[in-house]
Amino acid sequence: MTRQTAPSRAGAADTPSLADQVREYLAEQPRQLPSSALYDALGSALFDAICLLPWYPVTRAERRLIAANHGAILTAALSPTRLLELGCGNGEKLNVLLGVGASPVARVDLVDVSASALAAATRTITERRTVSVVTHHARYEEGLEQAVAGRPADDRLCVMLLGSNIGNFDPDRARAFLAAIRRCLRSGDTLLIGADLVKPEPELLLAYDDPLGVTAAFNKNLLVRLNRELGANFDVTQFAHRAVWNPQASRIEMHLVSRVAQRARIPAADLDVDFEEGETIWTESSYKYEEPTVAEFLGNAGFTPRRHWIDAEGRFLLAVASAS
Ligand code: TRP
Repeated sequence: MTRQTAPSRAGAADTPSLADQVREYLAEQPRQLPSSALYDALGSALFDAICLLPWYPVTRAERRLIAANHGAILTAALSPTRLLELGCGNGEKLNVLLGVGASPVARVDLVDVSASALAAATRTITERRTVSVVTHHARYEEGLEQAVAGRPADDRLCVMLLGSNIGNFDPDRARAFLAAIRRCLRSGDTLLIGADLVKPEPELLLAYDDPLGVTAAFNKNLLVRLNRELGANFDVTQFAHRAVWNPQASRIEMHLVSRVAQRARIPAADLDVDFEEGETIWTESSYKYEEPTVAEFLGNAGFTPRRHWIDAEGRFLLAVASAS
């Protein structure tokens, strides 16, 4: 299978270094960069700001669904004793799911590539309650494997994949990833998944190219990171943020477009890259789903859909499925 998008390489026992990933991704045509590299400390802070933007409804829609249904969600998830969130970010949604007061959840596992996100999420979760929190500074599959190694026989696990993070995988990879999650689970375990639904193009474009330029800053920060961590010399002012809706593929694509013909040196990757004027680096995709597609993906990966919720505006889907 050829890679279409810039997915995470979670699962590899020997996670490639940032320099190795950058070398490999930039050699693709069109050029790419790994989207997991968006989330350094500044990238995570910018992403938190994106989640507050009036034009980015994903986080709000999902948080509202969780807040309004947290009891029913945990019941549909077979009253888990352990929650494990893949890509937890600042931990706010998990916090809302835990609610206030008594809960069967005794342990929370947080998996994220961002150390600052893990620190923020741990603070958010432990501030209000006594639940044990275990962090995994890792990609999804690696973190999941670590978290389930040597599990006690009697815990019931719910894996959470929220924020439409599934949409950042191309469909083949999304299927393979869901199947990999399923393989880490036992019967009685569950999956809580959040997926952004297809909506009118202008709304989608504003969500990924906002008038304040926060998403542009988030995207361009990837180059700032490469300059700092790999000694690269990207002229960040000479790249523009571009979001395009690809209706055939049902995805938003995020690019960094070279405004001029230019060369970038990336010493730590032992690489010189020549960009033509208008040439793009594809940094991320965000697939938008229709409700039946999500159910079909879950079924094919060995899950049984149990319950789902869609917000009143029809923007966002939350689904609980069990390992069958
Ligand atoms: N999971 C988020 C999404 O697909 C990630 C995201 C939101 C994102 N805005 C972005 C990724 C802008 C890159 C650029 O909605």
